[in-house]
Amino acid sequence: MSGTIDEPLHAPYDARVARRLLMFLIPYRRRVAAALVLLLALAAIAAFQPYLVKVAIDSHIATGDLAGLYGIALLYLGLLVLELGVAYGETYLTAWVGQRAMHDLREQLFERLQRLPVAFFDRQPIGRLVTRVTSDVEVLNELFSSGVVAVLSDGLMLVAIAIMMFAVNTELAIITLLVVPLVLAISFPLRRRMRDAQREIRRQLARLNAYLQERVSGLVVVQLFRQERASADEFAGINREHQAAQLESVHYYALFYPLIELVGALAVALIVWYGGGEILRGALTFGALVAFLQYAQKFFRPIRDLAEKYNLLQAAMASGERLITLLDEPLPPTPIRDGRQLPQPRGEIVFDDVWFRYVSDPWVLRGVSFGVRRGEKLALVGPTGSGKTTCASLLCGFYEPTKGRVLLDGLDVREYPRAELSRRVGLVLQDVFLFSRPVADNVHLDSASVDEREVAAALAAIGADGFVTELPDGANTEVGERGRSLSTGQKQLVAFARVLAHDPPVLVLDEATSSVDSASEALIEQAIGQLMTDRSSIVIAHRLSTIRRVDQIVVVHKGTVCERGTHQQLLAREGVYARLYELQFADQEGRSRRLAGEPT
Ligand SMILES: Nc1ncnc2c1ncn2[C@@H]1O[C@H](COP(=O)(O)OP(=O)(O)OP(=O)(O)O)[C@@H](O)[C@H]1O
Ligand SMILES: [Mg+2]
Repeated sequence: MSGTIDEPLHAPYDARVARRLLMFLIPYRRRVAAALVLLLALAAIAAFQPYLVKVAIDSHIATGDLAGLYGIALLYLGLLVLELGVAYGETYLTAWVGQRAMHDLREQLFERLQRLPVAFFDRQPIGRLVTRVTSDVEVLNELFSSGVVAVLSDGLMLVAIAIMMFAVNTELAIITLLVVPLVLAISFPLRRRMRDAQREIRRQLARLNAYLQERVSGLVVVQLFRQERASADEFAGINREHQAAQLESVHYYALFYPLIELVGALAVALIVWYGGGEILRGALTFGALVAFLQYAQKFFRPIRDLAEKYNLLQAAMASGERLITLLDEPLPPTPIRDGRQLPQPRGEIVFDDVWFRYVSDPWVLRGVSFGVRRGEKLALVGPTGSGKTTCASLLCGFYEPTKGRVLLDGLDVREYPRAELSRRVGLVLQDVFLFSRPVADNVHLDSASVDEREVAAALAAIGADGFVTELPDGANTEVGERGRSLSTGQKQLVAFARVLAHDPPVLVLDEATSSVDSASEALIEQAIGQLMTDRSSIVIAHRLSTIRRVDQIVVVHKGTVCERGTHQQLLAREGVYARLYELQFADQEGRSRRLAGEPT
């Protein structure tokens, strides 16, 4: 089973990825600068506090200067309050910038996703793209707050503390720093194991999510085929592995933090042992020793954090890399024609020796040629998988022919700007897609050219007004995700009304193969007639009634046009069409006669 997160090992710092992601901070550079200044202030304040303690002990407590001690205490308190304020400002600013940058990144990603060619989505599982836009974007925040800010802040803190330690007592400072190699010796091997454990957790989580998603969306099949037991067992297995990965990670963290604490304690012991001796020899003041103990404590936290930040950065870089790949995904080339150079919309279509394959698979279309004159109606028929929907996709510009041309009003469809092509060619897909919005919204789709009256007129002309008025809120009724509160036939009618309202000169209709009850069937037949009126039409036909309306029939078989003509001509040939007719349409004959009121 393939996870939705494939995570190759990544360098903790990739200059290219970092640079691209940090570009998102540029609009907020003033606030970033302000946050950095606050960081500097925080480091200085933190490094200064133990020094105050030293002064308090050595200059005031030891000498019995109570008044001076009050002054120092007040100063210390003031510093604490200042530290609180600065820390608040720094945290808020950092989070603010991180959130804004993530917001911008998500916006850019969505924008790019919407404009990518349809072919891109043939190669990408939807779940993976959703992960990109949601969780991978968090990395920008992580890179910023845990990467840039944290590393800087920890680094500043270490430098500031080291400076103060050396200022107070050089020998003790060197002794404290002696344990640093020990910290590194512990961190490095553990850090790698912690990282691997984290990666395994993410992998297992992706598996868990993918399985859950598939089983929930396929619940009907699960229940229908009594798969509950098997699903539960399989899920239990994945769940167990996820838990094992979590526990492994917990194990390393549980080991890491106490070990670092231990080293910190060792440093304290060294300071007390050596410093105590120095005090007895009179070479060190008592206040300096206390200050050092505080410095040691403050010194080990950033060191410990840095090891963890390293892992975070590594994961962030991997996510960042994926995001950038998506942001750099090439858009379809924009044709450089302006409106004046486009031909008048007439509704003439020519397929000129069109060859096409999806990826590197075998040819799906092999030299398909046919033409539709203004106002003419053409039916594409053929066995399943013969390439009919592919022809429709090529005319709509979703894919480009590998060889040959598709012309609309004499101009290659590749030369049309996207928006213009959509205005000229109306498409109804085999499986209708409705948005979880009101019926009326699904008809006008926020197009400025379609007003409320036209929506109502389109619904009425299609014959959808009957069921729409019966909905609880009429045309303002929400249709649910993918339009699931409507029946298949009703959804089709809404999709028809959508095309009718936008009134394109060319109609491409990929008839649904699923059959509906005979009352709806009559409505849909009528609606299709209405749609095709005064419009050049290419219909991928599954209904006899539709076949009867067209001027010519083109039979597609294994990606080539094998027969063409009228219904009668093709029947007389007794070829592919005649066989197809026997299989697909003959049983509709009786029913359609009854519907039309003809004697059977
Ligand atoms: N997005 C795609 N990526 C790769 N191959 C595809 C894709 N869409 C379709 N195909 C392949 O192209 C061939 C033609 O598919 P197409 O959808 O055009 O058939 P069709 O004639 O519309 O069939 P049906 O009557 O079942 O709708 C099929 O073999 C199919 O497997
Ligand atoms: Mg099809």
